[in-house]
Amino acid sequence: MLLIYLGASVVAAFGLAVGLAVTGASPAAAAHAAFALGAMPLIFAAMGHFVPVLTRSGAAEKGVHFLPLALQLAGVLVVAALAGALPGWSLHLAASVGIAAALGFLAWQWRRGRAALGRPHPGLAWYKAALGCLAVALVAILAGLLWPGAYPVLRLAHLHLNTLGFIGLTAVGTLHVLMPTALGQPDPQAAVRLRRQLPWAIGGVAASAAAGFVPLLAVAGGLAIGGVLIHTLHGWWRTYGLARLLGDGAAVALSGATCGLLLVIGAGALHGMGGMLARPAIVGFFALFLLPLVTGALSQLLPVWRYPGPLTPRRTAMRARLVRLGGLRTVLFLAGGGLLLGGVAAGAALLAAGTALFVGVLVHALVQRA
Ligand code: HEM
Ligand code: HEM
Repeated sequence: MLLIYLGASVVAAFGLAVGLAVTGASPAAAAHAAFALGAMPLIFAAMGHFVPVLTRSGAAEKGVHFLPLALQLAGVLVVAALAGALPGWSLHLAASVGIAAALGFLAWQWRRGRAALGRPHPGLAWYKAALGCLAVALVAILAGLLWPGAYPVLRLAHLHLNTLGFIGLTAVGTLHVLMPTALGQPDPQAAVRLRRQLPWAIGGVAASAAAGFVPLLAVAGGLAIGGVLIHTLHGWWRTYGLARLLGDGAAVALSGATCGLLLVIGAGALHGMGGMLARPAIVGFFALFLLPLVTGALSQLLPVWRYPGPLTPRRTAMRARLVRLGGLRTVLFLAGGGLLLGGVAAGAALLAAGTALFVGVLVHALVQRA
């Protein structure tokens, strides 16, 4: 039930983000409604679900299941503080809660990896790297708040480490495991790809985060992360073929999210070199990547969370409802995100339409008779 609640609250947080943006609240508050209040707790919940699978160990302990709620609280504090509704020290408190949660979760994953039967799946190393990025990103913003002289550079490190490192590494690590599940066919190359790609992905994130000091690193960062994404898409194309990737409502969203992130990385390399405005990358990251990613992942994961254990007809029916119109949703998110990235504000209407479609199937799936 906790996982279903978190799944529904991320959709509500995305709605809040759009609402804050449209009503002209602080852009940073809107960004944190989507990223810190929405995505951050869901990522912890998803890791809690996948780590026992990756390490072939028992289900996560109760405390781990409640960790996402602490992060939701941190998310509320950040959004309220950035919107001016809470005093500035709430930011310090939120960052401290986030750092403690990230380090505690990292230690837990480390223990689970060591206790694994045999070698843990390489996806675990991606999760550990992602949590490391979150911890460093939060230390960076906390240091920036305490030391105003370094605030601009530390803020750049915070936002790139969080978006590309924390969210990006979690997403790519999970996508390699989620795509075969969505398509019901193992991908024999997934583990090899994950192992080979990780150093490039971490190098790309580090270069992008450091590009605030050395602008030329923006090209290296863009090429390394972009290369990882192209390698992943190529691997899926060879294993599954285009027709299967586009034919399933969850797989098409996950493929669309990967293509969307590739576009955002292109924009990132460009803005890093001063070739375009940087701010549209935030809404681009949300619309082109996070929206198709989260809706695609939820349509695959919510039925498993709602009906755990062996596959049942009820779980199959819930999934069928959630993936309905997945292709259309993906097109709306990518088209809307593309327009917003190009500075056309009307793209928001397409995002709203795609989100409304998902809310519709979500409500329909959740009220189906148990
Ligand atoms: C407890 C957690 C967090 C705290 C305390 C925090 C704090 C902050 C602060 C103080 C800023 C600067 C705002 C400004 O200068 O106007 C900022 C910017 C930013 N942060 Fe966070 N943050 C947190 C989590 C996250 C997460 C998880 C993400 C993404 C995954 C994220 C992404 C960003 C982005 C994209 C910006 C730039 C926003 C803009 O310029 O509009 N933050 N953060
Ligand atoms: C490979 C990917 C990326 C690279 C190499 C990169 C690089 C850079 C660099 C070097 C800067 C500093 C530019 C300057 O000070 O003039 C910058 C600024 C910025 N980047 Fe990125 N970036 C990337 C991806 C992203 C993404 C995905 C986002 C969105 C979440 C983003 C959001 C921003 C923002 C908002 C700023 C300006 C911050 C401000 O001063 O208000 N970047 N980026």
